Amino acid sequence: MTIQQNVSLFPYNTFQIDVKARLFAQFDSVDGLLQLLEEDNPAFKGPLVLGGGSNVLLTGNVNRLVLKNSIRGIEVVDEDEHHVFVRAGAGENWHQFVLYCLSHNYAGVENLSLIPGNVGASPMQNIGAYGVEIKDVFHELEVISITEASRRKFSLADCRFGYRESVFKKEFKDQFIITSVTYRLNKHPIYNTSYGAIQQELEKMGVQDLSIHAISQAVINIRSSKLPDPAVLGNAGSFFKNPEVPLETFESLKDKYPAIAGFPLPEEKVKLAAGWLIEQCGWKGYRKGDAGCYSKQALVLVNYGKAKGEEILQLSEEIIRSVQEKFGITLEREVNII
Ligand code: FAD
Ligand code: EPU
Repeated sequence: MTIQQNVSLFPYNTFQIDVKARLFAQFDSVDGLLQLLEEDNPAFKGPLVLGGGSNVLLTGNVNRLVLKNSIRGIEVVDEDEHHVFVRAGAGENWHQFVLYCLSHNYAGVENLSLIPGNVGASPMQNIGAYGVEIKDVFHELEVISITEASRRKFSLADCRFGYRESVFKKEFKDQFIITSVTYRLNKHPIYNTSYGAIQQELEKMGVQDLSIHAISQAVINIRSSKLPDPAVLGNAGSFFKNPEVPLETFESLKDKYPAIAGFPLPEEKVKLAAGWLIEQCGWKGYRKGDAGCYSKQALVLVNYGKAKGEEILQLSEEIIRSVQEKFGITLEREVNII
């Protein structure tokens, strides 16, 4: 494996931030990765692993070794009467994996169509959209421990998935490199069309016979209508998480702001729409220099061209402050700040 120096990370992050990695290497096999980690070089002990770079904000040149995970391969590893177990290399593009499942009529990931990034990052924040999360189709994953250069498996319970959370973002942050993920897909589809505008979009499409293909297309249509294409406008999707507040807090906010959107959760909690809170503070469509808040979705911060990561981060701080002042709610960033 070749280690390159002073490599521009511009092509490797969807925010299109132009910074450099002091050291950069790509690996396409577990053995190649193990070899690298076994070398006696301190630079290899705390690497930054990148998949598609669609959930990171790079705030400056990266002094760590940047490791681009390019392990490919998709294979069926097991099946039973109801399920097919499919293992995918961490470097496979997520949407290409969804297309593979659609072409084989394996159900379960159709609602997760068109999410940017790679398979290896899908468990990191338990990616989710339109009523489905990775945890719903997850079977197990394989990792390499960075410090011990050894292999290990994580089961569903081990990952402790939550809303945009897993052990890999918390107690095991920066300790493991995910090399493959095995998903449990359904042979007999269980359609999930209750979320948001899916039903409405299916009607607009004139769909008579529901299928995973139709749901995937509906999700693609909805996403394309409100989320910016990172190839055109730099962004990392939702910049903040939707905050979860006690029912009591929601009710007092509702008295003051009757239009506030809230989705009931277990244990007397309510999930608020951060996009709505941000829009109410007047940020939607805001632009300062090349850093901005997207005009069709206030939860998405964008880079109009030459914004620096620091400028996007600063904008996010101003947004957090103003939402805190108006609503008394502290937004948490969803994007990984590097
Ligand atoms: P990267 O950005 O490369 O990495 C993300 C984090 O995971 C980093 O901390 C990185 O170090 C770590 N990491 C990556 N790969 C590995 C690995 N193999 N082993 C260990 N650590 C690793 N997300 C959603 O959940 N739902 C959405 O609907 C959604 N919509 C989006 C829409 C747009 C337009 C964009 C740009 C992003 C969206 N996202 C969404 C966010 C993003 O697509 C996901 O978080 C995706 O899983 C990131 O994958 P990636 O390969 O690009 O990860
Ligand atoms: N809203 C506004 N103004 C805005 C944006 C949203 O009022 O500018 C309101 C909408 O009207 C709607 C509500 O907020 O009532 C929810 O909006 P939307 O359906 O667009 O979804 P979201 O909550 O903003 C979440 C995820 C997305 C995911 C969609 C669909 C988070 C942080 N974001 O967005 O994930 O695709 O739901 O399931 O949970 C991502 O993680 O990068 C991402 C795009």
